[in-house]
Amino acid sequence: MCGIIGAIQQRGEVAPFLHQALKRLEYRGYDSVGVTTIADGKLHMKKEKGKVEEVHRLLDLDDLPGSMGIGHTRWATHGIPSLYNSHPHFDCNSEIAVIHNGVIDNFLELREELASKGHKFDSETDTEVIPHLIEDYMKEGMDLKSALKKTTKRIEGTYAIVVMSTREPDKIVCTRDGNPLVIGYKESASYVSSDIPAFLPMTNDMILLLDGEIATLTVNDIEIEKISDDSRVERESIRISWTADQAQKGGFPHFMLKEIHEQPSAIRSTLKLRSEVIVRAAQILRDANRVFLIAMGTSGHAALAGKHMFASLAGVVGTFELASDFSDTVYGALNENDCVIAITQSGETTDTITAVKYAKQYGSKIVAITNVVGSSITRIADHTIITQAGPEIGVAATKTFIVQLTSLALIALALGELTGFKDPSVIMRKRDSLNRLPELVSEVTAKSEERARSLANIYHTKPSLLFLGRGVSIATAFEGALKLKEIAYNHAEGYSAGESKHGPIALVQDGFPVVIIAPNDETRNRIVGNIMEMKARGADILSVIEDGDSDLASISDHIFEIPKGVEPEFSTIPYVVPLQLFSYYMSLRKGYDPDKPRNLAKSVTVL
Ligand code: AGP
Repeated sequence: MCGIIGAIQQRGEVAPFLHQALKRLEYRGYDSVGVTTIADGKLHMKKEKGKVEEVHRLLDLDDLPGSMGIGHTRWATHGIPSLYNSHPHFDCNSEIAVIHNGVIDNFLELREELASKGHKFDSETDTEVIPHLIEDYMKEGMDLKSALKKTTKRIEGTYAIVVMSTREPDKIVCTRDGNPLVIGYKESASYVSSDIPAFLPMTNDMILLLDGEIATLTVNDIEIEKISDDSRVERESIRISWTADQAQKGGFPHFMLKEIHEQPSAIRSTLKLRSEVIVRAAQILRDANRVFLIAMGTSGHAALAGKHMFASLAGVVGTFELASDFSDTVYGALNENDCVIAITQSGETTDTITAVKYAKQYGSKIVAITNVVGSSITRIADHTIITQAGPEIGVAATKTFIVQLTSLALIALALGELTGFKDPSVIMRKRDSLNRLPELVSEVTAKSEERARSLANIYHTKPSLLFLGRGVSIATAFEGALKLKEIAYNHAEGYSAGESKHGPIALVQDGFPVVIIAPNDETRNRIVGNIMEMKARGADILSVIEDGDSDLASISDHIFEIPKGVEPEFSTIPYVVPLQLFSYYMSLRKGYDPDKPRNLAKSVTVL
């Protein structure tokens, strides 16, 4: 979704920094770019449809005067991607520049009202009403901050808004409600962005801005107020451990490949989470009458795998629901004895945040698993686990998925200890196996990469693939299919192997590729039956199997092998790795950029 950057520094031209920051925001997904600076009492602006470097080649984004400015990558919602719809948007006199992430629901009526007063609009966007409202309030004598405050009282929807004006050329003012904004600072410079990596090369010190707050950034100060009662907010800053290098490709051709290779260390760091944090989550689950796991996309697949871990290791049978459909599934039948585990790498997914707020209304306890310190979900949850993947830039989630699974495994083990569902010696054995996963995942990555590349040479012409698994491997199958869909644009379906004969098998004919996830667990023998059914209809079988499983190897056309010693509950962690690599090489083989899949955004902040 849209990316936001604002910077105000003591001296020097800010445009090259804004340009680079926009590049660091590219991963969010976008279709157009714009930058505005202030110098000599005027706004200076460049914007256009296209990618950052395309627009830079055309307009030279570094060539704008002034030491303060704002920049935006737009992901179209209202109005097609075009020069005119690109942000920043301006008032009638080009004195006020606004960038915005989110959706203004009542923009049509506001636009009509403003047009009737003589305001001229250049775009089809919902955003453009904002500078015009501010213009009117400033005409009434308000300063920029008061005018933005008043504007927030007129607009309905979700937003992160950053504003500057030639009338107050020493500050950037910003506010949020429902969309992320973080503030960074160092001596003689302040930054605001939708995402931490945008300003990481400049500073690791950040201050959270919460919904309903407004911040005024000057070179040496950050002042935050609550909009509801104008009270001053004093908030401690947070030092982020992420490094600027982590948000670079580090010699890999793509972020996605780099992030796949970082998975062993991401698991290792997550395994070091403080045990009190994990045990607290387990206690909340133990004390709940019902457990709902909710999430979207890849995080949803982690939730599904987590459901299996809780049942198998702790005897706690939870329910997985897509966050987007949660309220339409539970119909208000929630209460304070329920626990909702919300999983979201970004911590900002609107579907998930909305579902969590819904559950909170009924008093349900919320446990969040997220990768981003200070993200929206952390402020709503009763208890949060911060996974340790470091910044993930590739739109297709890989290492954040792996650490979500790792955290769920830790919770399941702690819960198992509390419920006593399994003998302590079993829990200990499972814990040992979990602790060995970083090495095992390294081995899988090294062993699978070349094979994934060569299999992409075979499968790249296949338009459609079926991914089948049983038990926890259904989650692995779903994730394998989603990765392929996202970055290689194949039609790929993840299915329960048991369910596959109730419909999907009709798709299978000579050469139709079926990817089978077959760890050596209690489902293995039944999946052999499914492979035979598929083969009988001509399917081409690509299996992910345990090393040395010669029976499965002999009935498969191609295989990926995973070393022995993986406990069944945790099998998604190593078994998904070859599928991530397969999607990556399929995407490359088909000529796509796996880091920037079309139409997708890193965090989806619309409903
Ligand atoms: C994963 O590859 C996707 N980009 C997407 O499905 C993602 O997992 C989903 O949008 C949820 O995001 P979240 O984890 O930030 O909530």
